[in-house]
Amino acid sequence: MAITIRRATINDVQAMQNANLHNLPENYQLKYYMYHILSWPQASFVATTTEGPKELDEIETEAELQNIKADPSYISKGEKIVGYVLGKMEDDPEAADKTPHGHVTSLSVMRTYRRQGIAEKLMRQALFALSETFKAEYVSLHVRKSNRAALHLYRDTLKFEVLSIEKSYYQDGEDAYSMKKVLKLDELLPSSFSNADEVDDLESDLLEGLDE
Ligand SMILES: CC(C)(COP(=O)(O)OP(=O)(O)OC[C@H]1O[C@@H](n2cnc3c(N)ncnc32)[C@H](O)[C@@H]1OP(=O)(O)O)[C@@H](O)C(=O)NCCC(=O)NCCS
Repeated sequence: MAITIRRATINDVQAMQNANLHNLPENYQLKYYMYHILSWPQASFVATTTEGPKELDEIETEAELQNIKADPSYISKGEKIVGYVLGKMEDDPEAADKTPHGHVTSLSVMRTYRRQGIAEKLMRQALFALSETFKAEYVSLHVRKSNRAALHLYRDTLKFEVLSIEKSYYQDGEDAYSMKKVLKLDELLPSSFSNADEVDDLESDLLEGLDE
């Protein structure tokens, strides 16, 4: 199954919100997704596939067509969002630490697409973009103490460190780990991690070679 990782656009926000509603108890209004994408357009990514249950021209019945049309994961003919990462720079004027730093607001991958490295790729793209475009010196995030999958991804795969435990951080009273990763651009280059060939190469100049 081919998965594409690309920057998120305003056209994706509804499908991103849909993925969020499916996967996480922390939900946001559409305007919060838009705020991220309009303020830091390089910092959020989506994972998409064109391999849905069927291509549109293969659909046989009207009912099937209506089902697909009603599925908010589809953002265009046949393109379906299966995961996203929503990233931003810290912009709270009251924040104690004035060092430019990024924050991962939300990350999720639809259930049937998990354990294929999609979240890792989304995260690596966001970390690279926060460092390269916004000169973020580090990135922070919160994760539920009970979220073993996300903890493994952040701590073991991406080498975030646990800074502290924030008691009752979540609305239901669960504690959060507050985590941080110092960003070093040369270590974040898409070419410096495995499976780099499967990820969009955001390092290369898109205009390169056009005048040859
Ligand atoms: C957490 C989540 C984003 C991971 O997505 P994913 O695409 O399955 O993750 P990846 O395939 O990139 O896996 C990354 C690493 O985490 C590990 N991992 C993934 N799911 C795991 C699980 N359920 N238990 C233990 N480890 C897990 C993988 O084995 C991989 O480790 P490796 O680098 O040692 O091989 C996904 O499970 C999800 O959407 N969960 C619900 C939403 C959520 O919790 N978001 C995070 C909020 S902070």
